[in-house]
Amino acid sequence: MVERTPWGNGIGIAGKKILFGVTGGIASYKAAYYCRGLKGFGAEVSPVLTENARRFVTELTFSALSGVHATTGADAFDPGNPFHHIDLPRWADLFVICPATANFIGKAAAGIADDLLSTMLLAYRGGAIFFPAMNGAMYENPAVKRNIETLTSLGHTVVEPESGPMACGEEGRGRLVSFDAFIHAIQSALLPKPLKQKKVLITAGPTREPIDPVRYISNRSSGKMGFELAWAAKSLGASVVLVSGPTCLSPPKVDEFVSVETAEEMLNAVKMHKDRMDCIIMAAAVADFTPRERLAKKLKKDAVGGMGLALSLQETTDILDYILKNRSTKQCIVGFSAETGDLVKNALKKIEKKPVDIMVANNVTEPGAGFDVDTNKVTLIMGKTKEIEELPIMHKADVALRILHKVAEVLN
Ligand code: CTP
Repeated sequence: MVERTPWGNGIGIAGKKILFGVTGGIASYKAAYYCRGLKGFGAEVSPVLTENARRFVTELTFSALSGVHATTGADAFDPGNPFHHIDLPRWADLFVICPATANFIGKAAAGIADDLLSTMLLAYRGGAIFFPAMNGAMYENPAVKRNIETLTSLGHTVVEPESGPMACGEEGRGRLVSFDAFIHAIQSALLPKPLKQKKVLITAGPTREPIDPVRYISNRSSGKMGFELAWAAKSLGASVVLVSGPTCLSPPKVDEFVSVETAEEMLNAVKMHKDRMDCIIMAAAVADFTPRERLAKKLKKDAVGGMGLALSLQETTDILDYILKNRSTKQCIVGFSAETGDLVKNALKKIEKKPVDIMVANNVTEPGAGFDVDTNKVTLIMGKTKEIEELPIMHKADVALRILHKVAEVLN
């Protein structure tokens, strides 16, 4: 059974055969945990350690975590099987190098095969995924940059390391990516591409409706669900436009990122792109009301004079409603229904008013669902058939994949 973890269910990973190359950097201690995570998601993992990796971590660690013999350089000369360097790459669905040192990246870029792992890479017919980890100055070195470009041009994927404090005491870009980002990259590589050549627009986050230059009305949306939808759509092969209200998140890699603040700005961005889209997903928590008047200067407390303050609000345009009234029938339109009770009843009522192809309903008051958490618990309702599918609590990345798979069914 796939282990449920706080970081996700890892859709796409179960049953896959992953060749897990470990090279000699300090981040190899994290790689042990990542190897365990892949196993937890149901993958078969076969670790291979370079001689330098063995100075940081042992093959016993990786054998115990993967449940199979962790291969090392010594196996290259095993008279019982002199073909490890061919057998394992032939067996693998995916070849991962984690961490990838500057030295290994350089060897791979040059096609050097002077040990078992680098030989395996040459014997692998697909593109591998490299997770570089090294000191920031090393990562910025033009030789390393050039080697990474070469790897990309050879069809490999290189996942950019993160910025932050490193084991050497310096700050910079060079930290091995987080487990969450690691799993996202593995899923992207393994997932089928049913949305290839499809264009998907996703709205995310809250909107902010200014009262004066320092105050605004907004809501608790973090943008996480919308950002995971953008990642999932890209991972399934779509080209993605992400229109987002203000969030604290760094945007996923999409084809176009449009940053907006107000409901009106979001409407204008959607209007600009909507006609060339195959699918539009309105995941944003758009403000239903905005101040009738926007003050040019800060409203002073004294000016209100202890009388309390009544704000006069007017309704914003319902963007989803606008899209539905101006849609092409070929498009797949997805709406969200954020509720605090009577989930299915209220969502069905919303479909009457806004006839979407898919409605994603969630009770935002349930633990592990809704705003500002990594997980969500949603019910999918198909607009035409009213077929209802209640999903268990899942990481938002996996919820997003389930939604996008439904989109692919509607479009294909
Ligand atoms: N929506 C929109 N524009 C708005 C308000 C909502 O496009 N001005 C979209 C949301 O992005 C979501 C769907 O409409 O996809 C439903 O939003 P929700 O807030 O759940 O419902 P409302 O229709 O606003 O109704 P209520 O707030 O009364 O539940």
